Amino acid sequence: MTEPRVPVTLTVADPDAMAALGARVAAQLRAGDVVLLTGELGAGKTTLTRGLGEALGVRGTVTSPTFVLARTHPRSAGPPLVHVDAYRLRDAVELDDLDLDFAESIVVVEWGAGLLEHLVDEWLAITIDRPTGSGRVDGDSAVEPRRVTITGVGERWANLGWLHAAGD
Ligand SMILES: Nc1ncnc2c1ncn2[C@@H]1O[C@H](COP(=O)(O)OP(=O)(O)OP(=O)(O)O)[C@@H](O)[C@H]1O
Ligand SMILES: [Mg+2]
Repeated sequence: MTEPRVPVTLTVADPDAMAALGARVAAQLRAGDVVLLTGELGAGKTTLTRGLGEALGVRGTVTSPTFVLARTHPRSAGPPLVHVDAYRLRDAVELDDLDLDFAESIVVVEWGAGLLEHLVDEWLAITIDRPTGSGRVDGDSAVEPRRVTITGVGERWANLGWLHAAGD
């Protein structure tokens, strides 16, 4: 049993800042790592992943993989980024059926909460919330701050000190 950890919470002002957070996460990532992104439609999960992918130097832009479920972005050096959108998956078996190569990739999963936990032991959980009372649940183009909560699950993510390194 791993001890419950105190999450790190950040306020992320705009899409550029969200992408920059993705880049900061990317700096930590290596083969075998898994990032679980949670948040309502338009929260900013793909925006974070785009910044993460750019920082990893993946070939091609990271866009929403909704209609392909999983997209592999090769890199000239290092493990590929596998970006999964589990929105249409019903259970962990369907996620398992994608045959993701967790060991040899960096895997980022949108909408994987409740599924991914059955397949891996350790992950970095990033939850993105829109401020309540903002009055906007539809149009996803409005720039407004997001509340981001980051929790490490497993020994791999025992130390989240790097999140504070940029002077929050
Ligand atoms: N502070 C912010 N951080 C991130 N995105 C923001 C912010 N403010 C506004 N946005 C906008 O919100 C939208 C986020 O869209 P994005 O595709 O990243 O969401 P998502 O969580 O991946 O949604 P989905 O569940 O549909 O995949 C973008 O249009 C982005 O410009
Ligand atoms: Mg998305």
